[in-house]
Amino acid sequence: MMKLVRFIWKNAAAVYLPKVIEHYSEYSPSPLSIKQFLDFGTVNACERTSFAFLRHELPVRLANIMREISLLPDQLLSTTSVQLVQSWYVQSFLEMLEYEGRDPSDHKNLKNFLDTLITIRNRHNNVVPTMAQGVVEYRGAYGGETSTVNIQYFLDRFYLSRISIRMLINQHALLFGDNDNPVHPQHIGSIDPACDVMHVVQDAHENAKLLCEQYYLVSPEIKISQHNAQNKGKPIEVVYVPSHLYHMLFELFKNAMRAAIERHDNEGHPLLPVEVYIVLGKEDLTIKINDQGGGVPLRKIEQLFDYMYSSAPQPDMNSSRAAPLAGFGHGLPLSRLYARYFQGDIHLHSLEGYGTDAVLYLKALCNESYEQLPVYNKSVQRHYCSNGNQENGDWSVPSREPRNMAVHRHQSAGIIT
Ligand SMILES: Nc1ncnc2c1ncn2[C@@H]1O[C@H](COP(=O)(O)OP(=O)(O)OP(=O)(O)O)[C@@H](O)[C@H]1O
Ligand SMILES: [Mg+2]
Repeated sequence: MMKLVRFIWKNAAAVYLPKVIEHYSEYSPSPLSIKQFLDFGTVNACERTSFAFLRHELPVRLANIMREISLLPDQLLSTTSVQLVQSWYVQSFLEMLEYEGRDPSDHKNLKNFLDTLITIRNRHNNVVPTMAQGVVEYRGAYGGETSTVNIQYFLDRFYLSRISIRMLINQHALLFGDNDNPVHPQHIGSIDPACDVMHVVQDAHENAKLLCEQYYLVSPEIKISQHNAQNKGKPIEVVYVPSHLYHMLFELFKNAMRAAIERHDNEGHPLLPVEVYIVLGKEDLTIKINDQGGGVPLRKIEQLFDYMYSSAPQPDMNSSRAAPLAGFGHGLPLSRLYARYFQGDIHLHSLEGYGTDAVLYLKALCNESYEQLPVYNKSVQRHYCSNGNQENGDWSVPSREPRNMAVHRHQSAGIIT
């Protein structure tokens, strides 16, 4: 009987899907702080509570971002890759709905829920390359007509939402799954309550260095210094997700090393060390990675965070070589999202002709590191409808021609009638 009810519910939900998505998207996602994740995992870790929270929160987060996917330009939405991504979201959303109204104290429900979460996580493993492929196809086909502003806006929000959904799933799976964490027994799910920052910096550097040496046969030296302004002379520790920290540092190291070596190769500039400063203040943990790779003009800095921008040749995905050192253009924008996810950020300060400081900011206190989450609402709709143009129009645009001549040119081209 239950099976029949579920069958009917599943099919009804599929029929009324747009309405159900709309309903869930009317809820705003509930951001959690790292402290809340930590408290939940230590003091009151209760699988039933987590089940009850996630069976509502996950469909809310999924629905919020699904509404944004549906606002993408038709030509992008209709690419095979974006269709595939969209089908994964629909499937996962429907699977989550099955747990509405189920009894949290029934062990079978808890076990099935855990399995469903892991299935969803695995289903979404390839979302980033698949979405990127869709954007490449779209830009390839429609070139100049595409609005890069909107796509950048969408991808930032879409990937941030994905990071947050994976964080929720991972916490539940690690806290209530079968296998304890034998390598890091002190971790609470994916959070290390005493994450040794120097250790993660060294680890990320070591792996970036190995990759760098595979490509260039050399790597710049590294100099690391740390300053703990909160606890003088003590190692710097924060409550954080070490895998996120590692990811960001690894990307920044690869970029710094590549810049230093390319300058050395192309300009005969000496291969100077990459310098790292780790500073813990009252509010911020700041990690600065300084290279002398020649820098980037200010005009280009924001462009480096474009998901499609890379100055490296496109990596050969069929090659049997190890992961490429650069070339996808995703390193900086995705790392900045990981930082922003818990209220941090990444800034690039460049001295063109000299080198670059990549500065990673994280919140020092775990009760201030709240998840930053995209919320679907009217202002988001307006953003997509206005084609990202609201930033334009109220600032002067440099022109070499006098204004009346520019108008004349358009008139003769038949644009102004
Ligand atoms: N420290 C730096 N010095 C000079 N240029 C930099 C530096 N960091 C990044 N860049 C420039 O920014 C571009 C984008 O960097 P990003 O890490 O996003 O992508 P990528 O390194 O090209 O590819 P990947 O996605 O594999 O990291 C790089 O291709 C490079 O031109
Ligand atoms: Mg990179």
